Amino acid sequence: MIIIIGKTVKQSEINLRNLMEPIHSNIAGNVHGGEIMKLMDNAAGVVAARHSGRNVVTARVDKVEFHYPIHISNLVTFNAKLSFVGNSSMEVFVKVLVEDFAKEDSAKVAATAFFTMVALDENGKPAAVPPLEITNDEERRLFEEGRERYLNNKKK
Ligand SMILES: CC(C)(COP(=O)(O)OP(=O)(O)OC[C@H]1O[C@@H](n2cnc3c(N)ncnc32)[C@H](O)[C@@H]1OP(=O)(O)O)[C@@H](O)C(=O)NCCC(=O)NCCS
Repeated sequence: MIIIIGKTVKQSEINLRNLMEPIHSNIAGNVHGGEIMKLMDNAAGVVAARHSGRNVVTARVDKVEFHYPIHISNLVTFNAKLSFVGNSSMEVFVKVLVEDFAKEDSAKVAATAFFTMVALDENGKPAAVPPLEITNDEERRLFEEGRERYLNNKKK
């Protein structure tokens, strides 16, 4: 008998924090959108690797939105958590929060996106991952939305 044990969203959720420096900026002085996407991808990769216990690759990015500019010396938090899990694929919701490093203002949501990561086995082939244990209504809502995107992508 094989017993499949699920894992919760909280078990792999992370908050990566970065102080934005001149090296991250574009010529207008804002932090480059591509730099932010790279850090979002990193955060999604950590979550997916923690959930699966495997190497992962990025297969897709959905609904990338930049809501608020990020400047040099901003403190940026990349909150990343699983929204949906398929067989070998995992969708990670990444929310980017921005604040002035020297002030205690409330952080603003600067960007959001959904990253689909795929777990790979030792031969570089997709590998099954643990199911996701849903523990509250917000997680259920994200899971249902993620499943819809997953099924729509399968049809294409
Ligand atoms: C992602 C990759 C491993 C999928 O390999 P594949 O042989 O096509 O695998 P499958 O068709 O069996 O799909 C495996 C899973 O990935 C998902 N998947 C594959 N391509 C996808 C895409 N474009 N969008 C969303 N999900 C995708 C499938 O839905 C499936 O999910 P499931 O197992 O949960 O049902 C392969 O396309 C790849 O290596 N891509 C390059 C990844 C990469 O280099 N990323 C950038 C650097 S990390």
